[in-house]
Amino acid sequence: MSEQSKGYKARAQALVSKMTLEEKALLLSGNGSWTTHKIDRLGLPSIMMTDGPHGLRKATGPSTADSVPATCFPTASALASSWDPELIRQVGVALARESQANDVQILLGPGINMKRSPLGGRNFEYFSEDPILAGRLAAAYIQGVQSEGVGTSLKHFAVNNQEFERMVNSSNLDERTLHEIYLPAFEISVTQAQPWSVMCAYNKINGVYASENPLLLEDILRKAWGFEGFVVSDWGAVHDRAQGVMAGLNLEMPGSGDVNRKKIIEAVNAGKLPVARLDEVVASLVAVVLKAAESRRTGTRFDVDQHHALARQVAGESIILLKNDDHILPLDAGGKKKIALIGAFAKEPRYQGAGSSQVNPARISNAHDELVAILGGSERIGYASGYDFEGVTSAELLEEARQQARHADVAIVFAGLPDSHESEGFDRPNLDMPEGHNQLIDAVSQVQPNTVVVLMNGSAISMPWVGRVKGILEGWLTGQAGGGAIADILTGKVNPSAKLQETFPVRTEDTPTAIEFPGLNQQAYYGEGVFIGYRYYDKKKIAPLFPFGFGLSYTTFDYSEMTLSASSIQDTGSLTVQVKVKNTGKVAGKEIVQLYVREEVPAVSRPEKELKAFAKVALAPGEEKTVSFTLSPRDFSYYNAHLHRWAVNPGRFDILAGGSSRDLPLSKSVSVEAQVAVSTLTRESMVKEFRDHPKGKAFYSRLTSIIMGGSSEEPGTVKRTLQEERARKKAEMSTLVFVNDMPAYKLIAFSEGKFTEQMLNDILAQVQ
Ligand code: BGC
Repeated sequence: MSEQSKGYKARAQALVSKMTLEEKALLLSGNGSWTTHKIDRLGLPSIMMTDGPHGLRKATGPSTADSVPATCFPTASALASSWDPELIRQVGVALARESQANDVQILLGPGINMKRSPLGGRNFEYFSEDPILAGRLAAAYIQGVQSEGVGTSLKHFAVNNQEFERMVNSSNLDERTLHEIYLPAFEISVTQAQPWSVMCAYNKINGVYASENPLLLEDILRKAWGFEGFVVSDWGAVHDRAQGVMAGLNLEMPGSGDVNRKKIIEAVNAGKLPVARLDEVVASLVAVVLKAAESRRTGTRFDVDQHHALARQVAGESIILLKNDDHILPLDAGGKKKIALIGAFAKEPRYQGAGSSQVNPARISNAHDELVAILGGSERIGYASGYDFEGVTSAELLEEARQQARHADVAIVFAGLPDSHESEGFDRPNLDMPEGHNQLIDAVSQVQPNTVVVLMNGSAISMPWVGRVKGILEGWLTGQAGGGAIADILTGKVNPSAKLQETFPVRTEDTPTAIEFPGLNQQAYYGEGVFIGYRYYDKKKIAPLFPFGFGLSYTTFDYSEMTLSASSIQDTGSLTVQVKVKNTGKVAGKEIVQLYVREEVPAVSRPEKELKAFAKVALAPGEEKTVSFTLSPRDFSYYNAHLHRWAVNPGRFDILAGGSSRDLPLSKSVSVEAQVAVSTLTRESMVKEFRDHPKGKAFYSRLTSIIMGGSSEEPGTVKRTLQEERARKKAEMSTLVFVNDMPAYKLIAFSEGKFTEQMLNDILAQVQ
């Protein structure tokens, strides 16, 4: 714990020691929807927390649409496509300044749940299907916000991956999947950035509500990761309040009047909730309230124009060029070519999601007006709306679009998901865009060979028309300045440099949870285990529409020369990996270099490869840079559910590098030797476990020879036919297979007592 945190904790404890039971219970529930209670008698102020995550939503009325004007940045799926922690840190700084200017102490975000299925209704608000990418970006966001004296609330902890029945659903999963997929992003964020608060999820995890879950809130969050802040319930996630306090849930939001306050008091009076536990839970909250109140910077102002410019820059770094046949993009800004802009999103963009994250934008730009401004006059630009706000088209609208497309040199169709198709509160039934959008793209591409599609959606969609258009830009939900950013990319003012943070599958049926998502009867079974996102498509050898990590540029990059700091390391050591990347095109650009690790012969079923590191590198034409990464033991580990911890299975690992999960031109392998035992050998351990154990391996041949027997024959002295020799080898192999899977103590009976209990105990004593 930092000295500063210790100071606040000590002051909080002193205050708690002066509180009555009623005051303690009062503090543990909010005062209305957005603030904590104050205690004037003790000089304890109230603090305010508001949504989040990609803009400030300080409510001015009961509807989510009623809030103060604020800069609406691109949503998380867009932000994450930048793969740029520094940029996201800057967004955090801007968000914090707007919070300070509005006297808000905690911003409710970032949201970092894994995109288990591309159909998750809130995927637009989450970073990635990969825990490392999500964790590193979330840590940067938190550091940015908190550097300006505003807290964050990391949400939704944990395993909150669907909207269907979100308040009651139980996410049922095995221990290894929990630790390898659903916890690491939280772990990275907490250990690297210490958010002031963590928001527990609505759902249950294996039958226990997140808001009452001691394993998550106490053992993992506080004890294992050293979390110093307070846990707040998602809005309305509290069930048994006293149970929640016992588990470590500090604050109930929104307030429940005196309903749950009374329950806490009753539980204490009935001896069911120890006062010491209550004090501890109140003190963690009070410590942050003190820090937050003292971090207020009254009089803060922010520059609306500057934040709009930042939002435009960030959107430009988040828009992905998915297809660019015949170099259809960038458009020739100075030329004379006529351009048809088709689709209502060109003028009325979909730029953010719906639900608690809905921001009242300070301003909105649209691609149509921005392109008119850049291309100099509307005579070059035609427009047809193509569909209504629900995405429904008609024969008339399609004909109008065809007319515009025919009379232009290039048609740019704006399409995606309307608000009604994607929101907090429900999941999508499939990957499809509205039929009207698909029909519009078909109609336009039939009459105009130079068709480009610009997409506005918060999560993966299917593209039945992918082969019929020359260019595709995935714009995501670009935030308020997205119109300008799209124009920047279309005209080449900005070279696209973003890559997919989630896989785009071809069909809904191809997805990891296709058989059952989002579950039924309040139960979701995570049967796909650790295989979500690219981990699944790789393992099943399913070709995605566009793979994780993919994105094009207006320039090209070449990878060469991977060097490893060693060819063999201990499982306690680290490995430095260097790769060279060169801009081989004519314009400056940025490449996202990705590093994956694959275990050659894993002890458990592992993904074909997993992302472990990445870096975004700016390169002038012809420039080459060396990018360096350091891999730690954890990067080679899997979560061993028997040991209940991370462990390295000794053996060979491939290090793969390149520009997308399906384009990794560089690879080398390293052998990792065991220092740390991945298992504890007991009399029940199988013989093969001795072979794979750093100390046990010395006894392996002794154990196998008990059954295999040592041959006394001199090699070559007994003459056998080829067939006899083969039969003998086959028998030996079968016996070895049999012995390997035998528990060690069985050797005593099989050897008819020649191998004794004492001998086994001696071996076990030496391998501990
Ligand atoms: C959402 C949270 C949000 C909270 C407050 C909940 O319904 O799940 O993400 O921060 O409301 O608006």
